[in-house]
Amino acid sequence: MSEQERKDYSNAPMCLSGKGVTRVFGIGDKKKVAVDHVDFEFHEGEFVSIVGESGSGKTTLAKMLLGLLSQTEGEIYFQGELRDLSGERKKKQYWKGIQAIFQDPFSTYNTFQKIDSVLLDCINMRGGKNLPKEKKIEMMTEACSFVNLKYAELTNKYPFELSGGQMQRLMIARIFLLKPKILLADEPTSMVDACSRATILDMLLNLRDETGMTIIFITHDIGLAYYISDTIYIMEHGKFVESGFAEDVIINPKADYTKRLISDVPKIHEEWDLSTV
Ligand SMILES: Nc1ncnc2c1ncn2[C@@H]1O[C@H](COP(=O)(O)OP(=O)(O)O)[C@@H](O)[C@H]1O
Ligand SMILES: [Mg+2]
Repeated sequence: MSEQERKDYSNAPMCLSGKGVTRVFGIGDKKKVAVDHVDFEFHEGEFVSIVGESGSGKTTLAKMLLGLLSQTEGEIYFQGELRDLSGERKKKQYWKGIQAIFQDPFSTYNTFQKIDSVLLDCINMRGGKNLPKEKKIEMMTEACSFVNLKYAELTNKYPFELSGGQMQRLMIARIFLLKPKILLADEPTSMVDACSRATILDMLLNLRDETGMTIIFITHDIGLAYYISDTIYIMEHGKFVESGFAEDVIINPKADYTKRLISDVPKIHEEWDLSTV
């Protein structure tokens, strides 16, 4: 893969932003501040990585962004407006705008739902219920080919018949059909082999380029974040200790924590050569 073209998204319309977003678990002696007053601004079409070690609060923040967990404090804005998730109807509406891919693709899935019906559901959710059957098949075929899967070979199969990498690609095919404004991917490649990892990252970049989707990519791997993102937020103990253009953060890190994460990656400044992965 060639060097990514870096673009300044700071003037692009705001997609998702937050002020003082905080999540506390437990009380008294057991009190744990998992996410501690974070501010962020994610723009349309921006590829953002949130980087931090295990336990730094990434998944807790992801769940708040998705509206699966309420924040203890702070505000989240969707497309510039204060997010309102009161009531099922508003939640459903919000989830048209934001979708997720998780670490373990099998955990999200009803194992007994066939793959074609997984994809068909996406078309129906996007208001395509009454489309002719041939059109639906055409859309599913296109989504599969976007992620290098063959629709004809998937019909009548179950998710557990796929490998982890294929399953994650199927998840990307779902996103391709659902076309949310934002895709949140929480460590989507940490359970797949290195070869599938490179392919999946490539597909996420293509997805952003083709659809203009905002991608929020969560990882513990700063090298990977550098390779894939426009903007990086570094998270330590629930706080953002540093953020900025991927290059600036990596080449000129300010926080000690960032410096330590970088020093753990042997060859971060060398361009990745995916052909040898
Ligand atoms: N439901 C919960 N109840 C209590 N503590 C939690 C809960 N979820 C997460 N935590 C704690 O919050 C911190 C951040 O966890 P998490 O967001 O999963 O981090 P990461 O995804 O970066 O590994 C950890 O110390 C974790 O133990
Ligand atoms: Mg996590």
